[in-house]
Amino acid sequence: MGNFILKGNIIFSDADRTLNVYENSYVVCENGISRGVFRIFDDIPSTYRDFELIDKKESLIIPGLVDLHVHAPQYSFRGFNMDEELLDWLNNNTFPEEAKYSNIEYAEKAYSIFADDIKNSFTTRAVIFGTIHKDATLLLMDKMEKSGLISYVGKVNMTRNSPDCLSESIKGSISATEEWLKETEGRFDRTMPILTPRFIPSCDDEMMEWLGQTRKRLGLRVQSHLSENPSEIQWVQELVPASKGYGDAYNINGMLGSKENPAIMAHCVYSDKAERDLLKKCGTFVAHSPESNLNLSSGIAPISLMLKEGINVGLATDIAAGSSISMMKQITLAIQSSKMYWRYIDNNVKPLSFADAFYIATLGGGKFFGKVGSFEDGYEFDALVLDDSAIRTADKVSVVSRIERAAYNEREIKITDKYVKGMAI
Ligand code: GUN
Ligand code: FE
Repeated sequence: MGNFILKGNIIFSDADRTLNVYENSYVVCENGISRGVFRIFDDIPSTYRDFELIDKKESLIIPGLVDLHVHAPQYSFRGFNMDEELLDWLNNNTFPEEAKYSNIEYAEKAYSIFADDIKNSFTTRAVIFGTIHKDATLLLMDKMEKSGLISYVGKVNMTRNSPDCLSESIKGSISATEEWLKETEGRFDRTMPILTPRFIPSCDDEMMEWLGQTRKRLGLRVQSHLSENPSEIQWVQELVPASKGYGDAYNINGMLGSKENPAIMAHCVYSDKAERDLLKKCGTFVAHSPESNLNLSSGIAPISLMLKEGINVGLATDIAAGSSISMMKQITLAIQSSKMYWRYIDNNVKPLSFADAFYIATLGGGKFFGKVGSFEDGYEFDALVLDDSAIRTADKVSVVSRIERAAYNEREIKITDKYVKGMAI
């Protein structure tokens, strides 16, 4: 892991979402932890001053990006079959593809590609859906561990409204989940299990009740989907008539999590005030997936409103409803779709600024992992060193403009170094 100082143009968010820009400055890493950013070498506390100095010259240095919601098995059909809405898209594309992961040789091939590509992307931390298959999910966890990224990975539970090739009995799902949890014990340093009911339509009440109890008993995290699509929301009301809404249908079993042990809910496009209040009370993290929401015509989540209300928000690719593993691309799509929300839906909800979107991609989602997503003293040291020299201009461009430009022109950016908790990967 080591102790070192990186020198370059350093940019990071703080809690009020302002961008801090330190030109030609120094960030100190001690045993995986940031010891802060300094403009002048002599301001570095003397205990750190003899650490190895790595000069990154003109490069941009930013915290690693956190993908709060991504489906590893769907990576194999990224970028095609996008002409349907959620429920048809799941039945016609997603479920047949995920069924293939009962075959461990297929899983080996497909998950090697996913792990390789996410390792080489802007992402340093991820929260990942596997499939219902225990062995393939363990294989995915082994590959994520080897990648050096830090991640949560979930074996999916699906006990109803699913095709025979991708369905479990309640008893079968419980025992497979128990076995999976047992097999993860002591096996990883950087990879954690997370309970993963696909969504309410895929999980019987009894299954959710067991997951809720298991969450509490073992102190586990949860990830799922919430209020993504109008037909889905109506279906949930029919399936759980006693609930006051989709969020409440999870909350009945404690599946929105708690402040100490939060859950992630992807999308929340249609969460009304009552549902947003519930998310805030439970400390739930909203995984905003702007590209996915556009591709499946789901809608646009009012993210700046959620931030204003104090709800935890992170950014996500939601592969394969999102076509790209690039979290930089998601930053720009979050901004662009928020502008359309403001223009077409509610002109009281301000568009996201670049600083807002950079915040949700780093510190916003990083909070799910603890002190992650910033370079302030005490944060875990996740960093990307970016070479943007392929983008040519006649005049010199400021550092703050260069990072914004890097997000919009992400394909022209080279990641020259990547650190996760102080480890170069
Ligand atoms: N809701 C339930 N499953 C899924 C999925 O795989 N992707 C998306 N976008 N939404 C879902
Ligand atoms: Fe999803």
